Amino acid sequence: MVKAAMDHRGIEKLLSEMTLKEKVGQLTMLSGELVQTGPASAPVTSDAIKNGEVGSLLNLVGSERVRDAQRHAVEGSRLGIPLFFSLDVLYGLRTMFPIPLGESSAFDPALWEATARVAAEECAVEGIDLTFAPMIDIARDPRWGRTLEGPGEDALVGQRVARAKVRGYQTDDLAAPTAIAATAKHFAGYGAVLAGREYASVDMSERLLHEVYLPPFRAAVEAGVACLMPAFIDLNGTPMSIHVPLLRKLVRERWGFDGVIVSDWSSIAELLLHGVAARPEAAALALNAGVDIDMMGKGAYVDGLPEALDRGLVTMARIDEAVRRVLMLKLKLGLFDDPYRRCGSPEAIAASAAQPARRALAREAARKSIVLLTNTGATLPLKGSLKSIAIVGPFGEIAGGNSEPPPAERVAALVDQVKAAFPEAAVSVAAGSHVEQPREGGLAEALRNAEQSDVILLCLGERVDMAGEASSRAYPGLPQPQQDLARALLETGKPVVVLLFSGRPLIVPDWLAAFAKAILAVWHPGSEGEGAIADVLSGAYNPSGRLSMSWPADVGQIPIFFAERPTGRPRLENEHFSSKYLDIPNDPRFRFGHGLSYTSFLLSNPRATRWTIAAGETTEILVDVKNTGAMAGEHTVFLFIRDVASSITRPALELEDFTKVMVAPGEMKTVRFALSSDQLRFLGADLEPVLEPGAFEIFVGPSANPAQLQMLELQVRQVEARQAQPSPKSM
Ligand code: GLC
Repeated sequence: MVKAAMDHRGIEKLLSEMTLKEKVGQLTMLSGELVQTGPASAPVTSDAIKNGEVGSLLNLVGSERVRDAQRHAVEGSRLGIPLFFSLDVLYGLRTMFPIPLGESSAFDPALWEATARVAAEECAVEGIDLTFAPMIDIARDPRWGRTLEGPGEDALVGQRVARAKVRGYQTDDLAAPTAIAATAKHFAGYGAVLAGREYASVDMSERLLHEVYLPPFRAAVEAGVACLMPAFIDLNGTPMSIHVPLLRKLVRERWGFDGVIVSDWSSIAELLLHGVAARPEAAALALNAGVDIDMMGKGAYVDGLPEALDRGLVTMARIDEAVRRVLMLKLKLGLFDDPYRRCGSPEAIAASAAQPARRALAREAARKSIVLLTNTGATLPLKGSLKSIAIVGPFGEIAGGNSEPPPAERVAALVDQVKAAFPEAAVSVAAGSHVEQPREGGLAEALRNAEQSDVILLCLGERVDMAGEASSRAYPGLPQPQQDLARALLETGKPVVVLLFSGRPLIVPDWLAAFAKAILAVWHPGSEGEGAIADVLSGAYNPSGRLSMSWPADVGQIPIFFAERPTGRPRLENEHFSSKYLDIPNDPRFRFGHGLSYTSFLLSNPRATRWTIAAGETTEILVDVKNTGAMAGEHTVFLFIRDVASSITRPALELEDFTKVMVAPGEMKTVRFALSSDQLRFLGADLEPVLEPGAFEIFVGPSANPAQLQMLELQVRQVEARQAQPSPKSM
């Protein structure tokens, strides 16, 4: 039996007592019976736990079930090594927050940390020790369904999400009562799958990888993330699960990551399908790359490692290295001291769920995630004197999806919230259509309601399960029946306010963008989404969300993002030989950073405290923000740079900072950005960071729209002495 007062020395002693079978058991993660998040499999058995064939479980939730499973390990196995229990908790367990792509639109690291903290508190009372979050895959292709889970298109935003989420889940002590281990996933480049098709291969330059896709993971490692999960994909010909240069050389040796690397679901076994290995070789390749735990690998490690050891494909030292990291994680999680520490009592669970502050946070998060995309003639906020409102669209199916509560309850919640916000209005409800199919009689009912209403709230978009894993869509737009419904309602001449529910940027048709009176991106807004929507519609909350991912005007533009490198033939409408499409628009429908407010802001007087800096020096960029409207509001200001002349072409805009400021009507505040010479470095031809002298254009503004940016010029005075850098590293 394991000693209660386990420590590092105890871990070494334990390791020395373990058989090979018990060691490999610690490197095996099996699924409980709660949810399947991969190809179907048989749930774990108590015998497997007692025999030491498994070291951790996923997808088993609930204190009592976790307690039972843990008891088999702690009291039933030879060495009594506790299991750890894990689950995908990306946007809440009981209190549901907006999907991560939605939450990233808040551009609010404090909010991102706060929602992770609540999720961790809810996990840590229901038996969950580790979450497979944050997902920090940068994505620039809305056809890929997992944009839903991520931070959008920009590496800086991804880095800030990574830091905030790791802090929120883990705090600074994994053994703290409400701390759980976080997992940075999916390492790396997953968001760039070929043609946006899920699980497809990825090809990208080393430059793009190091400049865009790796930085969020480095930020997670620097923030002390406990685990990392390689992606399913093959990156430039090497499946991530066996990518020695990135997993071992970069992450473990260069970044100094000594946490646990857990494979994605059966991704080691899938190496056979990638065509790179048979079972023992697959196990050896993954272990030697640094992958410690085989998740649901159909025996990849359990069967493959003993044979690989016999054949000299792996060493016992390598196996011990992996087992040590797993045992150390369990030590840090406090599981040796108290294996049942996160199995809360029914009273504790009830007390946890009953906290009103959590519902308030969920409403705040949903409010801050909503993006006001269009607002013709200041249609929004709606007037309190409205006499009749028609809620139309398949909201119940969209919101119901595969999550609680059932559709009818979601519709009722929206109606209740709208009625509360507009007490004088009669509120009607008509689905009008299904999400992807016409609805028998739906159109007629919707039109009848519309004719009797002052305004139509038209709920359109995707069900939750139309985005996320294994949910690529070749045309990420509105299904035809929904478009037909929208057209019919627009033809009534009544004002139409569109609420777009989605897990990704959607292709909004020209006619809808032009003729709807207002369009709101509400994502999948979580437990309190209906209340947040009513708050925005009524003006109780002035929308402040901004897009963290460009919305294409046409699927033919994909991939489209703001940080493109310039071309020698920039687009000129009257120049045939210039970079543009002939047959579709060239600008995105909505740019990165786009988001309207009910008030108006004026940025002025951009200035620097130092107009010339050298290596190691910092300046401050200041800009005044005035609220020129009649309503208080939060304004997000972005700081971009462009290196005017450099040895490697640089993106036309690179995001270096962002901040939010609340400004009262008529008030003016000054926003200050520290800008260091380090932020002006880029990866040179050899992918080593370098600072080159010369002019830098510094832009401040409310989005990546060049027409909205104000520019000042900064000089870098001298060339930084080339510092010896042993190997490429991400910025
Ligand atoms: C899934 C996902 C991964 C998740 C894991 C466990 O296949 O790719 O994000 O954490 O399996 O559920």
